[in-house]
Amino acid sequence: MTGAKENISKAKNFLSHGVYVISTAFEGRVNALTAAWVARASFVPPLITISIGKTRFSHDMIMGSGVFAVNVLGPEDIEAGKRFGLKTGRKTDKFEGVDYETSVTGSPILKDCLAWLDCRVVSSHEAGDHTIFIGEVLDGGVRRENGVPLIYDRNTFFS
Ligand SMILES: Cc1cc2nc3c(=O)[nH]c(=O)nc-3n(C[C@H](O)[C@H](O)[C@H](O)COP(=O)(O)O)c2cc1C
Repeated sequence: MTGAKENISKAKNFLSHGVYVISTAFEGRVNALTAAWVARASFVPPLITISIGKTRFSHDMIMGSGVFAVNVLGPEDIEAGKRFGLKTGRKTDKFEGVDYETSVTGSPILKDCLAWLDCRVVSSHEAGDHTIFIGEVLDGGVRRENGVPLIYDRNTFFS
């Protein structure tokens, strides 16, 4: 990598992100992936964006279901970030042995997370090799009032 490409790559590493588990339920299956590219988009109505790679199993499931939940991770949830972020759910059940409940949309909400937002997709937009899904937040909750969110550091997950 040389010149502008290298500079762009280095500069992008200074963008800060949290770490989230994005879950959904479709055709009798539940699945989730870990995502860092998650953001607030509107106060009224309350909108959230997620950017999901087109090759992810979760991508097809969210396209199909039209719903997702954002599970916010804290530093004590790194193992969950690895469980959902380092392998695909296409052939394995990443939820095996994981406690969850559901709210409005039926998307799995982790018992162990900092906070959660249950969303219905209101639009989706192609963004290169990803799709940006905009979700309206229909319900939400805080599980650990005094918790702090995990800040994304690639060395935590990919070293
Ligand atoms: C910390 C972390 C952050 C990630 N952020 C994203 C993201 O924002 N969008 C995305 O599409 N994949 C992201 N991934 C990769 C997916 O979680 C990974 O490809 C996952 O295995 C996909 O699972 P699935 O095929 O069951 O959907 C991230 C992975 C990790 C570990």
